[in-house]
Amino acid sequence: MRKATAIIKSGGIIAFPTETVYGLGADAFNPLAVARIFEAKNRPLFDPLIVHIANLAQMSQLASRVDKRAGRLAGRFWPGPLTLVLPKNELVPDIVTAGLDTVAVRMPDHLIALDLIHRSGTPIAAPSANRFGYISPTKAAHVLEQLGERVDMIIDGGDCTVGVESTIVKLDGDRNIILRPGGVPIEEIEAMIGPAERVTETEKKPEAPGQFPSHYSPTVPVQLADNIRDIDFSRPDAGFLLFRKPDFDVPLERTEILSIDGDLKEAAANLFSALHLLDKMKIRVIVAEPVPENGLGIAIMDRLRKAARREIGGVDYSS
Ligand code: TXA
Ligand code: MG
Repeated sequence: MRKATAIIKSGGIIAFPTETVYGLGADAFNPLAVARIFEAKNRPLFDPLIVHIANLAQMSQLASRVDKRAGRLAGRFWPGPLTLVLPKNELVPDIVTAGLDTVAVRMPDHLIALDLIHRSGTPIAAPSANRFGYISPTKAAHVLEQLGERVDMIIDGGDCTVGVESTIVKLDGDRNIILRPGGVPIEEIEAMIGPAERVTETEKKPEAPGQFPSHYSPTVPVQLADNIRDIDFSRPDAGFLLFRKPDFDVPLERTEILSIDGDLKEAAANLFSALHLLDKMKIRVIVAEPVPENGLGIAIMDRLRKAARREIGGVDYSS
C-alpha cells in the first residue's frame, strides 16, 4: 500500500479492487495522470470518469452543492455501489468530467480502495479497469489480461463481491434520473427519494456510456434469447450463459450457470467472470438466457443487452 500510495502521488495509474468491479485509478486533481487512464483504456475523452472518495469531507472538493436528496442517498448507501452526479466544483479538472458542469462521485465499499484513497490524500478518478467497450474486470487476472503492462500496478484484492458497476443517479433540480442501473437496486433508491426517470438509449446525447447501445462486449458475439426454451442446445458452435440450473441436460463444458438456485445477487457477482470464461472457449457465439427484470436483474439485463450489441453511436468500439 505504501508503494501504491507513492505511485498515485507521483501521477501514476493503478488498478485496484472495489466491491463492484476493478477500477483504474489516478489522482483526480492531476490532469496528466488522468489522461494516462484514457490512453491505457483507449477510452474516448468525451466519456467522463467517476471520482472515488474515502470520506464525506472530500465531497466539498468535488461538488459545489450537495442537496438534501444527495445527502440522504449518500447516508443510506455509502460506502456502496451508488454514484451520485452532482454540480461540480470548478477545481475538478475538465478531463475528469469531459467538460460537463457535473461530477460523478462514489464512496466504494472496499477496504483496499478506501485505504488507497485515504493514504493518497486525494480523491481518485477511476473507470472500470478494462479496455473500452470490453467486459468489466471482477478479478485481478482480468485486469492483467486486458491492461497488463499499460498500468503501473495492479492490487489483487480477490473477487469483487457485487460484480456489476454502481448505479448512477443524477439529481438535476427536482428530477431524479437513473443514468445506469447497477449494484443498488432502483427500487431501493426510489423508496428513499421518490420516482426516478430511466434514461433510454434512444435519448440523443448520451452522457454515460451506460446509455450507449453497446458496451461490456466479449470478443465472441452475444445473442440474448427471449426464453430458455428458445435456446438450441444442440448447436456445436455455441456457448451458453444461463441464469439458473435447468431441469434438463445441457453441454456443461460450454455452459456457465450464474446461480444454481436463480439468486440475482449471486448471478450479478458471477456475470462478468462467466462472460470472460465463455469468451475464451472455442465457440462462435454466446447464447444468453434472460434473467427476471427486478432488483439486480435490471442491471444484469442492461449489461446483457449491451453485450449483445456491438456499435456505439454508429462507431464500432468493440475491437
Ligand atoms: O462501480 C463503478 O461505478 C466502477 C468502479 C470502478 O467504481 N466504475 C465504473 O466506471 O463503472 P466507468 O467509467 O466504467 O463508468 C462510469 C460511468 C460512465 O458511464 C460515465 O459516462 C458516467 O459514469 N459518468 C461519469 N461522470 C458523469 C457525469 N458527470 N455525468 C453523467 N455521467 C457520468
Ligand atoms: Mg466501464
